[in-house]
Amino acid sequence: MTDRYAVIGNPIEQSKSPLIHTAFAQVTGQDLAYTKVLSPLGEFAATVDAFRAAGGRGMNVTAPFKLDAFAYATDLAPSAQLAGAVNAMKFEGDKVFAENFDGVGLVRDVVHNLGCPLKGRKVLVLGAGGATRGALLPILAQGPAELVIVNRTVSKAQELAAIAQTQNTGSVPVRGIGYDDLQGEAFDVVFNATSASLTAQVPPLSISAFAQDALAYELAYGKGLTPFLKLAQQAGVTRLADGVGMLAEQAAEAFLWWRGVRPDTRAVIHTLTVPLV
Ligand code: ATR
Repeated sequence: MTDRYAVIGNPIEQSKSPLIHTAFAQVTGQDLAYTKVLSPLGEFAATVDAFRAAGGRGMNVTAPFKLDAFAYATDLAPSAQLAGAVNAMKFEGDKVFAENFDGVGLVRDVVHNLGCPLKGRKVLVLGAGGATRGALLPILAQGPAELVIVNRTVSKAQELAAIAQTQNTGSVPVRGIGYDDLQGEAFDVVFNATSASLTAQVPPLSISAFAQDALAYELAYGKGLTPFLKLAQQAGVTRLADGVGMLAEQAAEAFLWWRGVRPDTRAVIHTLTVPLV
């Protein structure tokens, strides 16, 4: 019997998840159907209940329901607990297992696909919202030399740095600061995890924050050369990336979790890549 999966959100038309998971199913020979589910606002639980009752096996969760999914889950993985948000669910009887694969997808893209190890490197993350929260543990697990979270609202950066410190099993120094506090420090890897690019804005970052040979990584995807990536270019950075690989890798993690087989992401990344120009 064909197993059913879906991505739930509102709006949902823009989601690439059906394209990605359908491609993964084809290359791995898995018998599954993956669709889009538009949930009315305020009716997340009822919509998921209906999908489960019809035999649904698992769901990805996108905006604005990542917190609703957190509340709906019966079993939260540590990744979801730390992120405070859920992006994948697996249904088994009465159980709703929940994960957040965004951070692990990001790190896998950087380390594996882009060939940029984080171990021993100075890492800067711009923003202190949900995207940063999800990325903290997977970044720390790589053992960077240090992790700095910089945010417009400094208290939020400090709060996340404090949470990260408590989870930090190694001894990576973590700091939460404001943009003015950077004072000419340079970083090997700079992640833009703010939502600034969605409104064509750029965080108030000095070009001196990019070390020579730095990687500048925009977590948003498909927007070409965003203001953040342009800033990096002005700083002389040649290693630029957007979140297309992160998108494919978080999907591959969910697919592995659901089906027990890890699909190769290269073809999907190739299909979805928008040139950075
Ligand atoms: P997400 O879940 O996508 O991370 P969020 O939780 O709303 O979204 O967080 C958005 C982040 O982008 C915040 O860190 C926000 O900074 P503030 O906490 O100071 O609001 C940051 N952000 C949004 N627009 C920005 C801009 N133009 N410049 C700098 N930071 C910006």
